[in-house]
Amino acid sequence: MARRITSFGVAFFFIGIVHGWGTSSFDSLTSEDLVTRKSVYRTPAFTLTPGEVSSKFYRVEFPKGHVGVRGFDAEVVDEAGNPVSLFEVYLHHWLTFNLYVKKTEKEAFLNEGYYGSNNPSTRFVGNSGLCRDGPGSTSWGLGSETRHTNTTIPPPYAIEIGNSENIPDGYEEMWEFNVHAIDTRGVADRPGCTECRCNLYGVVNDERGKPLPKDYIGGLECCYDGTKCRLKPGFESTKRTLYMQYTIRWIEWSENMVPVKKYVIDVTNTGSGCKIEYNTPTCSLSGFPTDCIDTRETTASLPEDSILIYAAAHQHVGARGASLYGANGKEICRSMPAYGFGSEAGNEAGYVVGMGACYPEPGSVKISSKDVLRMQSNYSTFRGRTGVMGLFNILVASDTYSMISFKKSDSVNLGYGIQELLNDYFLIIGFVGGIAAFGLGRYYQFRKQQSEGYQAVFK
Ligand SMILES: *[C@@H]1O[C@H](CO)[C@@H](O)[C@H](O)[C@H]1NC(C)=O
Ligand SMILES: *[C@@H]1O[C@H](CO)[C@@H](O)[C@H](O)[C@H]1NC(C)=O
Repeated sequence: MARRITSFGVAFFFIGIVHGWGTSSFDSLTSEDLVTRKSVYRTPAFTLTPGEVSSKFYRVEFPKGHVGVRGFDAEVVDEAGNPVSLFEVYLHHWLTFNLYVKKTEKEAFLNEGYYGSNNPSTRFVGNSGLCRDGPGSTSWGLGSETRHTNTTIPPPYAIEIGNSENIPDGYEEMWEFNVHAIDTRGVADRPGCTECRCNLYGVVNDERGKPLPKDYIGGLECCYDGTKCRLKPGFESTKRTLYMQYTIRWIEWSENMVPVKKYVIDVTNTGSGCKIEYNTPTCSLSGFPTDCIDTRETTASLPEDSILIYAAAHQHVGARGASLYGANGKEICRSMPAYGFGSEAGNEAGYVVGMGACYPEPGSVKISSKDVLRMQSNYSTFRGRTGVMGLFNILVASDTYSMISFKKSDSVNLGYGIQELLNDYFLIIGFVGGIAAFGLGRYYQFRKQQSEGYQAVFK
């Protein structure tokens, strides 16, 4: 069962600075909401000064007991609980991992953390596979698009956690949270800092002190915890105290529910493992505009026959969408970025503030273990970029399960309706299709504004 955690995993886990338990939480269960609970938690506080990167690991709270998770939303907030704009704090990513920890070693674990590699008293659990080293192993995880990416899992499906039958004797299930945030107040080059360009961070060695290859010009290896991006000359500001606030929507597990498995397809996996990040070139203007898209592709197969319940991509600024194709080349999900166009948190101009999610009618998209899935990730190449990503997060149910579940789902649906009523307060900027076109239009406007010396936004 020992899981190998390489590259990305080691990079993060190696320092594994753990700052203790989540410091605050509250549970809401209103009298009308008899089924779905909503628990709001915060990670311990972290601080940032202009230009600085924080990438720490926290042991955090999760709903206790055998439950099904139906939604997981998160955002960076300040001490007063106000949402913090991506203009000030760029949320590069957040990730959650579950571990089984030996009960007898729990205290040590609480103090020292996982430290990744070879702590025999912890067992890494993660998700159901494909890209198990790196972000592919996370149970939940997103980036700047967190505020407007729908994570709701439709009933009767849910991610099952805390099932004592799966937890080895003498172990307990625990959760860790990694938050990678960059304070971009006053930085010299905002796109460059968010893309972790090594020259802007003055980084030549990775966080273990090993020299980076000469051709490594940007990506996570250059913006590890404690590094600092170049500021505009003379810029000064105060240290901020921040939290990651996360809201888990969950339900007590019952036999009416159908567990889903999570798989992550990483477009950088072209046979030799998941590299997580890649760089995109700058297009030559002669081919404008058709040549100004970089398309990467990979293939993957699921280990068992499944039905698709949910799919959404993860991409960075410059994203032009991602697609998943099933057997016979049919597109089964197209996930498009939503770009912000304003100044408030959740609508930051030029940033990817949401990714469209696909909800095929359960049972309508079957994926056989023999099928070869193909994934494409597109980026605009008007500008070359470093450290971009192309992931597809998919949730599937086992094909045999699905047949049983349809008969049983009625009672759960009732609760779902109430939950949706309670949770539908988000301002949705919009997803899919037309929005991309809209984003593109805006994008030209940003370029124009920028050349006219307005607010700095991405180009
Ligand atoms: C998320 O998706 C579910 C399932 O399609 C839908 O019912 C719900 O309204 C969506 N929520 C938001 C906030 O868009
Ligand atoms: C990505 O680009 C390819 C062409 O390179 C195109 O066929 C495909 O439709 C694009 N996908 C999306 C999601 O726009």
